[in-house]
Amino acid sequence: MNKTPETQAPLTDLLAKRWSPRSYDETHEISDQDLLSILEAGRWAPSSSNGQPWRFSVAKRGTELHKKVVAGLTGFNQAWAPAASALIVVSVLKKEGASHKGNFYDAGLAVSLMSVQAQALDLYTHQMGGILHEQLHKDLELSSDLEVAVVFTVGKKDLPEKFEGDALARELAPRTRLPLTEIVLHGKP
Ligand SMILES: Cc1cc2nc3c(=O)[nH]c(=O)nc-3n(C[C@H](O)[C@H](O)[C@H](O)COP(=O)(O)O)c2cc1C
Repeated sequence: MNKTPETQAPLTDLLAKRWSPRSYDETHEISDQDLLSILEAGRWAPSSSNGQPWRFSVAKRGTELHKKVVAGLTGFNQAWAPAASALIVVSVLKKEGASHKGNFYDAGLAVSLMSVQAQALDLYTHQMGGILHEQLHKDLELSSDLEVAVVFTVGKKDLPEKFEGDALARELAPRTRLPLTEIVLHGKP
Protein backbone atom coordinates (compact mmCIF):
# COMPACT_ATOMS: atom_id res chain seq x y z
CA MET A 1 0.00 0.00 0.00
CA ASN A 2 1.56 3.27 -1.07
CA LYS A 3 -0.05 6.43 0.32
CA THR A 4 2.81 8.73 -0.66
CA PRO A 5 1.46 11.35 -3.05
CA GLU A 6 2.81 12.03 -6.50
CA THR A 7 3.97 15.61 -6.48
CA GLN A 8 5.50 17.98 -9.02
CA ALA A 9 8.18 18.94 -6.51
CA PRO A 10 9.47 17.10 -3.44
CA LEU A 11 7.72 17.37 -0.08
CA THR A 12 9.52 17.17 3.22
CA ASP A 13 9.41 13.55 4.48
CA LEU A 14 6.91 14.18 7.25
CA LEU A 15 4.37 15.66 4.84
CA ALA A 16 5.00 12.94 2.26
CA LYS A 17 4.33 10.28 4.89
CA ARG A 18 1.22 11.87 6.46
CA TRP A 19 -2.19 10.49 5.68
CA SER A 20 -5.31 9.75 7.71
CA PRO A 21 -5.60 6.04 8.51
CA ARG A 22 -8.58 4.42 10.21
CA SER A 23 -6.79 1.20 11.20
CA TYR A 24 -5.00 1.75 14.52
CA ASP A 25 -3.03 -0.55 16.82
CA GLU A 26 -5.33 -0.90 19.84
CA THR A 27 -2.45 -2.25 21.96
CA HIS A 28 -0.28 0.85 21.56
CA GLU A 29 -0.07 3.11 24.61
CA ILE A 30 0.94 6.68 23.89
CA SER A 31 3.52 8.13 26.29
CA ASP A 32 2.91 11.38 28.15
CA GLN A 33 6.11 12.68 26.53
CA ASP A 34 4.71 12.13 23.02
CA LEU A 35 1.41 13.73 23.97
CA LEU A 36 3.26 16.72 25.43
CA SER A 37 5.26 17.14 22.19
CA ILE A 38 2.05 17.15 20.17
CA LEU A 39 0.38 19.64 22.52
CA GLU A 40 3.45 21.91 22.46
CA ALA A 41 3.27 21.91 18.66
CA GLY A 42 -0.29 23.25 18.92
CA ARG A 43 0.65 25.69 21.63
CA TRP A 44 3.36 27.24 19.46
CA ALA A 45 1.20 27.63 16.36
CA PRO A 46 0.75 31.13 14.97
CA SER A 47 -2.59 32.87 15.56
CA SER A 48 -4.18 36.20 14.82
CA SER A 49 -2.90 38.76 17.38
CA ASN A 50 -1.43 35.76 19.22
CA GLY A 51 -4.97 35.08 20.46
CA GLN A 52 -4.40 31.29 20.80
CA PRO A 53 -8.14 30.56 20.65
CA TRP A 54 -7.71 26.76 20.89
CA ARG A 55 -8.33 24.47 23.84
CA PHE A 56 -7.62 20.73 23.92
CA SER A 57 -9.16 17.82 25.82
CA VAL A 58 -6.88 14.80 25.73
CA ALA A 59 -8.57 11.41 26.15
CA LYS A 60 -6.23 8.43 26.33
CA ARG A 61 -7.79 5.08 25.41
CA GLY A 62 -9.08 3.30 28.54
CA THR A 63 -10.00 6.45 30.49
CA GLU A 64 -13.46 7.70 31.52
CA LEU A 65 -12.91 10.78 29.35
CA HIS A 66 -12.23 8.54 26.36
CA LYS A 67 -15.64 6.85 26.83
CA LYS A 68 -17.33 10.26 26.75
CA VAL A 69 -15.49 11.32 23.62
CA VAL A 70 -16.26 8.02 21.84
CA ALA A 71 -19.95 8.56 22.69
CA GLY A 72 -19.68 11.91 20.91
CA LEU A 73 -18.52 10.40 17.59
CA THR A 74 -21.05 9.70 14.85
CA GLY A 75 -21.56 6.84 12.39
CA PHE A 76 -18.53 4.88 11.23
CA ASN A 77 -16.19 7.11 13.27
CA GLN A 78 -17.47 5.32 16.37
CA ALA A 79 -16.38 1.97 14.91
CA TRP A 80 -12.75 2.71 14.05
CA ALA A 81 -11.54 5.74 16.04
CA PRO A 82 -11.68 4.18 19.58
CA ALA A 83 -8.72 1.91 18.70
CA ALA A 84 -6.37 4.90 18.42
CA SER A 85 -4.17 5.57 21.43
CA ALA A 86 -5.80 8.91 22.17
CA LEU A 87 -8.60 11.17 20.99
CA ILE A 88 -8.07 14.93 21.19
CA VAL A 89 -11.10 17.22 21.25
CA VAL A 90 -10.37 20.67 19.84
CA SER A 91 -12.53 23.51 21.14
CA VAL A 92 -12.43 27.08 19.90
CA LEU A 93 -13.00 30.27 21.88
CA LYS A 94 -16.06 32.17 20.74
CA LYS A 95 -15.90 35.92 20.27
CA GLU A 96 -18.53 37.89 22.13
CA GLY A 97 -20.95 39.39 19.57
CA ALA A 98 -18.57 38.86 16.65
CA SER A 99 -17.79 36.25 14.04
CA HIS A 100 -15.30 33.73 15.29
CA LYS A 101 -14.41 32.20 11.96
CA GLY A 102 -10.87 33.60 12.38
CA ASN A 103 -10.58 31.54 15.55
CA PHE A 104 -11.47 28.39 13.63
CA TYR A 105 -8.76 29.24 11.11
CA ASP A 106 -6.24 29.60 13.95
CA ALA A 107 -7.32 26.32 15.56
CA GLY A 108 -6.98 24.57 12.19
CA LEU A 109 -3.41 25.82 11.95
CA ALA A 110 -2.69 24.48 15.43
CA VAL A 111 -4.10 21.04 14.58
CA SER A 112 -2.12 21.03 11.35
CA LEU A 113 1.15 21.54 13.24
CA MET A 114 0.11 18.92 15.80
CA SER A 115 -0.41 16.38 13.04
CA VAL A 116 3.07 17.08 11.66
CA GLN A 117 4.62 16.76 15.14
CA ALA A 118 2.75 13.46 15.60
CA GLN A 119 4.13 12.25 12.28
CA ALA A 120 7.64 13.10 13.48
CA LEU A 121 6.98 10.66 16.35
CA ASP A 122 5.78 8.09 13.81
CA LEU A 123 2.22 8.56 15.05
CA TYR A 124 -0.71 9.12 12.73
CA THR A 125 -3.64 11.48 13.17
CA HIS A 126 -7.12 11.54 11.63
CA GLN A 127 -9.45 14.48 12.04
CA MET A 128 -13.18 13.99 12.47
CA GLY A 129 -15.97 16.48 11.85
CA GLY A 130 -18.49 13.65 12.21
CA ILE A 131 -19.10 14.34 15.89
CA LEU A 132 -21.94 15.39 18.20
CA HIS A 133 -20.74 18.92 18.95
CA GLU A 134 -23.39 19.80 21.55
CA GLN A 135 -23.16 16.45 23.35
CA LEU A 136 -19.37 16.71 23.61
CA HIS A 137 -19.69 20.27 24.91
CA LYS A 138 -22.08 19.07 27.62
CA ASP A 139 -20.34 15.81 28.55
CA LEU A 140 -16.91 17.46 28.77
CA GLU A 141 -18.43 20.26 30.84
CA LEU A 142 -16.88 22.89 28.58
CA SER A 143 -17.47 26.54 29.40
CA SER A 144 -20.03 28.55 27.42
CA ASP A 145 -17.30 30.60 25.68
CA LEU A 146 -16.07 27.44 23.91
CA GLU A 147 -17.38 25.66 20.82
CA VAL A 148 -16.29 22.13 19.86
CA ALA A 149 -14.63 22.18 16.43
CA VAL A 150 -13.18 18.74 15.74
CA VAL A 151 -11.91 15.54 17.33
CA PHE A 152 -8.75 13.89 16.09
CA THR A 153 -7.08 10.54 16.68
CA VAL A 154 -3.42 9.97 17.53
CA GLY A 155 -1.94 6.51 17.36
CA LYS A 156 0.12 3.82 15.70
CA LYS A 157 -1.12 2.81 12.27
CA ASP A 158 -2.12 -0.83 11.89
CA LEU A 159 -2.71 -3.14 8.93
CA PRO A 160 -5.60 -2.23 6.61
CA GLU A 161 -6.58 -5.92 6.56
CA LYS A 162 -8.16 -5.46 9.98
CA PHE A 163 -11.10 -4.18 7.94
CA GLU A 164 -13.15 -5.83 5.22
CA GLY A 165 -15.48 -4.73 2.44
CA ASP A 166 -15.91 -0.97 1.88
CA ALA A 167 -13.83 -0.08 4.92
CA LEU A 168 -10.88 -2.10 3.61
CA ALA A 169 -11.26 -0.58 0.14
CA ARG A 170 -11.23 2.92 1.65
CA GLU A 171 -8.13 2.16 3.71
CA LEU A 172 -6.31 0.87 0.64
CA ALA A 173 -7.54 3.52 -1.81
CA PRO A 174 -4.96 5.81 -3.37
CA ARG A 175 -5.08 9.38 -2.06
CA THR A 176 -6.35 11.93 -4.53
CA ARG A 177 -6.20 15.71 -4.80
CA LEU A 178 -7.31 18.45 -7.15
CA PRO A 179 -4.51 19.39 -9.55
CA LEU A 180 -2.44 22.50 -8.83
CA THR A 181 -3.83 24.00 -12.04
CA GLU A 182 -7.25 24.07 -10.35
CA ILE A 183 -6.27 25.30 -6.90
CA VAL A 184 -3.61 27.86 -7.82
CA LEU A 185 -5.67 30.64 -9.35
CA HIS A 186 -2.80 32.99 -10.11
CA GLY A 187 0.94 32.65 -10.59
CA LYS A 188 1.36 28.88 -10.80
CA PRO A 189 5.05 28.19 -11.52
C1 LIG B 1 -12.15 19.03 9.33
C2 LIG B 1 -12.06 17.58 8.90
C3 LIG B 1 -13.10 16.72 9.19
C4 LIG B 1 -13.01 15.36 8.83
N1 LIG B 1 -14.00 14.50 9.23
C5 LIG B 1 -13.85 13.17 9.04
C6 LIG B 1 -14.77 12.25 9.62
O1 LIG B 1 -15.72 12.60 10.32
N2 LIG B 1 -14.54 10.92 9.42
C7 LIG B 1 -13.49 10.45 8.66
O2 LIG B 1 -13.34 9.23 8.54
N3 LIG B 1 -12.59 11.31 8.11
C8 LIG B 1 -12.74 12.66 8.29
N4 LIG B 1 -11.81 13.54 7.79
C9 LIG B 1 -10.62 13.03 7.05
C10 LIG B 1 -10.67 13.41 5.59
O3 LIG B 1 -11.64 12.66 4.92
C11 LIG B 1 -9.25 13.20 5.01
O4 LIG B 1 -8.35 14.07 5.63
C12 LIG B 1 -9.24 13.46 3.50
O5 LIG B 1 -9.99 12.49 2.84
C13 LIG B 1 -7.83 13.47 2.94
O6 LIG B 1 -7.17 12.27 3.24
P1 LIG B 1 -5.70 12.27 3.89
O7 LIG B 1 -5.81 13.03 5.21
O8 LIG B 1 -5.39 10.82 4.11
O9 LIG B 1 -4.80 12.95 2.95
C14 LIG B 1 -11.88 14.89 8.12
C15 LIG B 1 -10.83 15.79 7.81
C16 LIG B 1 -10.91 17.11 8.21
C17 LIG B 1 -9.74 18.03 7.92
